[in-house]
Amino acid sequence: MRKDLIAGNWKMHSTHLDAIQMVQKLSYRLDPGDYERVEVVVCPPFTALRSAQTVIESDNLQIGLGAQHCFYEEQGAYTGEVSPQMLAKLSVDYVIAGHSERRQVFGETDEDVNKKVKAIFAAGMTPIMCCGETEEEREEEMTEAKVGSQVRLGLQGLTADQVAKLVIAYEPIWAIGTGKTASADDAGDMCTFVRNMVAEQFGEAADSVRVLYGGSVKPGNIAGLMAKRDIDGALVGGASLDPDSFASIVRYWM
Ligand code: PGA
Repeated sequence: MRKDLIAGNWKMHSTHLDAIQMVQKLSYRLDPGDYERVEVVVCPPFTALRSAQTVIESDNLQIGLGAQHCFYEEQGAYTGEVSPQMLAKLSVDYVIAGHSERRQVFGETDEDVNKKVKAIFAAGMTPIMCCGETEEEREEEMTEAKVGSQVRLGLQGLTADQVAKLVIAYEPIWAIGTGKTASADDAGDMCTFVRNMVAEQFGEAADSVRVLYGGSVKPGNIAGLMAKRDIDGALVGGASLDPDSFASIVRYWM
């Protein structure tokens, strides 16, 4: 019922020229059958979105387009910011909201994330809302408290229909870009916890919401993660920059 989703978060990497090549190379490595099993999305930086969109549309690729961030207002005096409506006009399908780097480096709060999630839906796109604990919180056995409150506050005021379409990425902060992955069992348990949280608030929508794992996902660990009942895909950082390794992650069953 839930289609697996593998999204590449390129972070602050790639010029618009690099992006054209990366999307093309990725498409050469994937077959129509891969897209049937897995929804494949790339999230380039803002400056590369238009180029990526042009390649996807002119070559008729089945690769989805995502943005890494947006502001929640439609327009106005917000120097440097980009609105959901601007992204929607570029045929962007997904927008990441509340990535831990946005929260830690740029001070985004749960309230900001909640406003963004609503604004992304209002512009007709799908949010990929991120949550996850720090190493310290894990050691202090605060993982569920932290993730639980991020999910609860992030989803506040949404309708069950919206939540059913949402993507949530569980990304333990200590596993991001560190090469330390959560074990498949721990990642699976946390994704189950996230789904249960959604069920408590929104009932059946929890059966449709897709929960991804993120944090040092690689070709060598993806299959174990995907074997978990409540993991519906992955948000991939570093390994998504290399089309070979990203394609291997997409084709995790091979
Ligand atoms: P990573 O990043 O795969 O490089 O750990 C994941 C993410 O930040 O989304």
